[in-house]
Amino acid sequence: MRTIIEPFRIKMVEPIRMTTKEERQAIIEAAGYNPFLVKAEDVLIDLLTDSGTSAMSQEQWAGLMRGDESYAGSRSFIRFESVTKSLTGLRHVIPTHQGRAAERILFSLVGGKGRIIPSNTHFDTTRANIEFEGARAVDVIAPDGTDPEVLAPFKGNMDLVALEALIRDVGPENVPVCMLTVTNNATGGQPVSMANIRDTKALLRQFDIPLFLDACRFAENAWFIKMREDGYAEKTLEEIAKEMFSHVDGCTMSAKKDALANIGGFLAVNDDELAQRVRALLILTEGFPTYGGLAGRDLEAIAQGLIEILDEDYMRYRVRSVEFLGERLLSLGVPIFQPTGGHAVYVDAGRFLPHIPESRFPGQALVSALYVEGGIRAVEVGSVMFGHNAKAELVRLAIPRRVLTQSHVEYVVEVFESIVRNKDNIPGMRFVHEAKVLRHFTSTFEPV
Ligand code: F0G
Repeated sequence: MRTIIEPFRIKMVEPIRMTTKEERQAIIEAAGYNPFLVKAEDVLIDLLTDSGTSAMSQEQWAGLMRGDESYAGSRSFIRFESVTKSLTGLRHVIPTHQGRAAERILFSLVGGKGRIIPSNTHFDTTRANIEFEGARAVDVIAPDGTDPEVLAPFKGNMDLVALEALIRDVGPENVPVCMLTVTNNATGGQPVSMANIRDTKALLRQFDIPLFLDACRFAENAWFIKMREDGYAEKTLEEIAKEMFSHVDGCTMSAKKDALANIGGFLAVNDDELAQRVRALLILTEGFPTYGGLAGRDLEAIAQGLIEILDEDYMRYRVRSVEFLGERLLSLGVPIFQPTGGHAVYVDAGRFLPHIPESRFPGQALVSALYVEGGIRAVEVGSVMFGHNAKAELVRLAIPRRVLTQSHVEYVVEVFESIVRNKDNIPGMRFVHEAKVLRHFTSTFEPV
């Protein structure tokens, strides 16, 4: 069959409140043209993030009922530990309330002034946690990886030549750990090949530097390996994911993505001594090592989600639905970051709205237009978010897992059709209030 269907049916529904274009115009104006300040209730299709927004399965909900809320050694922790250890093969798995809590603990132990932490591309919370401790976060992405038009299979790959040069330049003793983000959220959700993971580890081994995965979207990455890398077509997603983890010494994980949970995360390490220090710090801010800032029921949801995410029927539908949106936007002449990644389509608003200069925030302008035209909420990933460090003026359309149907996606395409017709009339934006840090969350704007 040609049609790839959602491999689930709907048992419980959450109504969407319909709004008119006039209502949305008033709502976005009142929110200072910043969708983060719009009430979720006033959004028709929420593409703000794929993080923590997944629909849980009947088994996950059943797990919530089974949650063991004992302070220490709960049954739910034992299940969580058994699933995560079997998946990652790592000796110590320590739960945290979300991904950035794992990052905070890791980098406060291995980071600090004078330290350099490379990655293919650090996600913004990772970078912020590294820099907060005084270390330097360096992106070492292969050159193809940031070019929106190159059609390469693994644009998330680490540039190994540049990584080796960096390590020799700063001295291996100053590189306490190297990260690899799979898939690479900061550059279009692009995957990293197994060969690149293996070769990165081989290079680091020479310098005795541990390799950590930022594993938030490990299963989507495994799918791309299965589809695109020689020798993996016949392997199961579970086998591929296990092989990915077999090359690393640890990982940080946000369970809000590929664990299909609404909250949670973990830090996993092989090093016994590091694990002891992680647990000591965990108790200060997250909680006892057998719950780490989570309820027992959350641990159940994560354990179950990590099993379901490796279902190939699910992943085929997941990646195809993102790819479908990308294809349709391209056919409308909307430039996007290519090829589409695992969790989102990134529209190149800078090229789509060439009449709006960077200083007038084309991404923010498109985000506002999407809301007014169709009640769609997306996020600017450009000059508003990154200031002068922005590499492109992108808008991310992140697809929540198992939440939308195909007709929702077709509706998004139709909204773009109408935006394409009127795109020359979309006004640029200027700040009314410019927040000092993390500007995209709270700044307000007006059209110019
Ligand atoms: N690493 C990556 C690659 C991420 O995408 C995120 C979160 C984190 C770490 C932090 O995890 O949110 O659980 O603390 N990304 C979300 C997003 C916020 O919208 O892409 P967290």
